[in-house]
Amino acid sequence: MVQIAIFASGSGTNAEKIIQHFADVEDIGVALVVCNKAKAGVLDIAERWGIPSMLINRDFFYGSDQMVFELKQQGIDFLVLAGFLWMIPSYLVHAYDHKMLNIHPALLPKFGGKGMYGMHVHEAVKNAGEPQTGITIHYVNDQYDDGAVVFQASCPVEIQDTPESIRQKVQVLEHRHFPEVVETVIREKFKLPARYF
Ligand code: GAR
Repeated sequence: MVQIAIFASGSGTNAEKIIQHFADVEDIGVALVVCNKAKAGVLDIAERWGIPSMLINRDFFYGSDQMVFELKQQGIDFLVLAGFLWMIPSYLVHAYDHKMLNIHPALLPKFGGKGMYGMHVHEAVKNAGEPQTGITIHYVNDQYDDGAVVFQASCPVEIQDTPESIRQKVQVLEHRHFPEVVETVIREKFKLPARYF
């Protein structure tokens, strides 16, 4: 069984889609939710699905490499960042080199980097008058939104779109594609037999 830890900071709608997706999969599962905000909705989601969660603070995450020990002890093979808003420290990037995916709510390399998260991204897309936006799923390295791209999907931005309506379109793409892309990458990496969606 390949075990995933999902890292999230917010409401956790993507985390829930991933948890749900793997709930009936025999050889891959979500074993842990890691969160840096005590009131984040993702913690309620983890509880509802009976998945252990771990609340981390800055000292723990950046002050030592204890996190790797915790993850390894819990048998975590693969990390998925689903709206996790802290930079991943290099010790963790190296411990899970090419075994950590992030989702970004825009078409990188546009609208990425520090401060570009959540609604800030959709506001910037609207202000720039972009004809399209979308999602990018990429490996994580020690720069914000900089690792190798695995998957992108796009949607049009119409003149009447607002940052909120852009967010909704992008979220549809995230929920549709993220769980399947995570599964495809894990099956290739861990040489698991293909499963047809
Ligand atoms: C998602 O749109 C994700 O792409 C974004 O945070 C949102 C989390 O939503 N991530 C970033 O902006 C990272 N730079 P969720 O909590 O409902 O899954």
